[in-house]
Amino acid sequence: MANIQSLISTDRKFHPICEVAGILGDKLGIEVYVVGGYVRDLIIGRELHDLDIMVVGDGIEFARQLAKVLSAGSFGKIKNVIPFERFGTAAILYQDGQIEVASARKEVYQFDSRKPAVSKTDLEGDLSRRDFNINAMAVSINRKNFGDLFDPYGGIRDLKAKIIRTPLDPDSTFSDDPLRMMRAVRFAAQLQFNLDQVVIESIERNVRRIEIVSSERITAEFYKILGTDQPSIGLELLQHAGLMKIIFPEISEMFGLEQPFEWHHKDIFYHTLQVVDNIAEVSDNLDLRFAGLVHDIGKPRTRRLESKKGWTFHGHDFLGAKMLEKIAQRMRLSNKTKDYLQKLVNLHLRPIALAKEGVTDAAIRRLMVDGGDEIDDLMILCRADITSKNPNLVRKYLGNFERVDLMIHDVKERDAMRAFQSPVRGDVIMKECGLKPGPVIGRIKKRIENAILEGEIENSYEAAFDYLNKIKDEYASK
Ligand code: CTP
Repeated sequence: MANIQSLISTDRKFHPICEVAGILGDKLGIEVYVVGGYVRDLIIGRELHDLDIMVVGDGIEFARQLAKVLSAGSFGKIKNVIPFERFGTAAILYQDGQIEVASARKEVYQFDSRKPAVSKTDLEGDLSRRDFNINAMAVSINRKNFGDLFDPYGGIRDLKAKIIRTPLDPDSTFSDDPLRMMRAVRFAAQLQFNLDQVVIESIERNVRRIEIVSSERITAEFYKILGTDQPSIGLELLQHAGLMKIIFPEISEMFGLEQPFEWHHKDIFYHTLQVVDNIAEVSDNLDLRFAGLVHDIGKPRTRRLESKKGWTFHGHDFLGAKMLEKIAQRMRLSNKTKDYLQKLVNLHLRPIALAKEGVTDAAIRRLMVDGGDEIDDLMILCRADITSKNPNLVRKYLGNFERVDLMIHDVKERDAMRAFQSPVRGDVIMKECGLKPGPVIGRIKKRIENAILEGEIENSYEAAFDYLNKIKDEYASK
C-alpha cells in the first residue's frame, strides 16, 4: 500500500486537525480517514478547501467528540456542530472554516425521488458510491497507519492520465445522484481533464435524470462551471452531452444558428462562449460572466432574414432582458442578480451604438445614468462582445469602443471635479489656525483646493490636513 507522503510534494502538509482526529479515532477504536476532494487536491497540488473526514462508525457522535477535543486545544473557538441526522454527517464550524465529518455511507436516489436514501457501509462501500475515481480515494489518519492511501478504483492512475471515470458503471453512479453528470463536466473543465468515452455515453443516455435534481443544486453547479478559468470548455460539454438543452434551453437554442460575422463569431452559441471566456480573462465576477452568457439569448427568437441586410435581430436586447424573468425564476436567482442581468442585457448594444454614431457628452451621461453602478461591468461586457476574427474589424471596433470608454472616464472626471470640494472644512481651518470666521478662511480653503488641483498634494483629508498645518503659520492671526 502506498503512503500519501511519497506522492505529494514536501511543502504540502496535512491539515493539523488530522492528527487530532486520528488520535481520537485510536482512543475510540474507530477507523478515521480523510476522503474526497481534499485527497485529490493534496496530490495534484491544488489549493485545499474544506477538510472531509470519514469514520467507519457514527459520524455525528465522532464530530461532537472531535469538537470537544478541538475546543480544548489551540484551534480557536468551535462555533457550532451542525448534525444532519438523515445523512449521518455533521459539520464542525470553527474559526478558520468548516470540517465535514461523515459516517461511511452510501447515498442513493430512488428512481423518481428528489431525496436520496442513505445507508451505512464500510470504507470500500463508501468509496464505491462516490462520483469519480479521482474523488474516491481515502487516506488513513489513525496513528498506526497514518498516511496510508486507499485507492481501490485507480484514482492516482486517472489523475496521471487526466481522465474522469466512475468507480461503478457510470449509469449507476449517475443514477445514484444525477447532479454528478454536471459535476463530471465541471471537473473536466476545472482540471482540464477528459471525460472517459463511456462516461460521455452514459451522460447522453441519462440526461433526463437531471430533472429530479433541485434547481438550487443545478444552479450552484452551473455557477461553478462559470467560475472555471475557461468556462467555454464546460459549457460546450454541457451542450454536446445534451444537458444544456434541459437545464438551459435558451442557451442550447443558440447552437448552430448563424449570424452575420461582421463583428462576431458566425455561430451565436460559439460567439457567446467566446464572450464568456473573454470576460473570464479579466473578471472573477460570476454574475458578469453569466451576463455574458445571456446577453444574446433574445437572438434566436428575433432572428429574421432581410433581403438587403441578411440576418437581423431587432429588439433582441429587450426580449433577452424579458426572457430573464422566467430564467431567473427557474434557476432560483436572487432578485438582485436578476435585476443586474436584465440591466446589462438591456444595455449591451448601447456603448457600441454610441461609438458608431459619434458621441456627445449628453449621450455618454445618459448611458452613465442608465448603467448606474454597473457601467464598468457593462463596458467589460461590450468589450468582450467583439469577437470577430478579422483583425482589421476588431481594431476598428475596439478603436471606436475605446473612444466611448475614454469619454466615460472623461465625463466622470469632469463631473467629479464640478462636485469637488476641499476635503478640509472651514470649521477645521478655524480650529487649527485659531482664527475667527472671515475672508481669510476662504483664502486658505482656496489654497488647499489649488494644491490638490495642481497635483501638489493628493485629494484626501489627511493630505489636505497636513498641508494646512504646513501653511497655517502664514495666516496666523491675520
Ligand atoms: N461526492 C460524490 N457525489 C456528489 C458530491 C460529492 O460522490 N454528488 C463526494 C466526492 O467524493 C467528493 C466529496 O464527496 O470528492 C466532496 O464533495 P464536494 O465538496 O462537493 O466536492 P470536492 O470533490 O471536494 O470538490 P470541490 O471542493 O472542488 O467542489
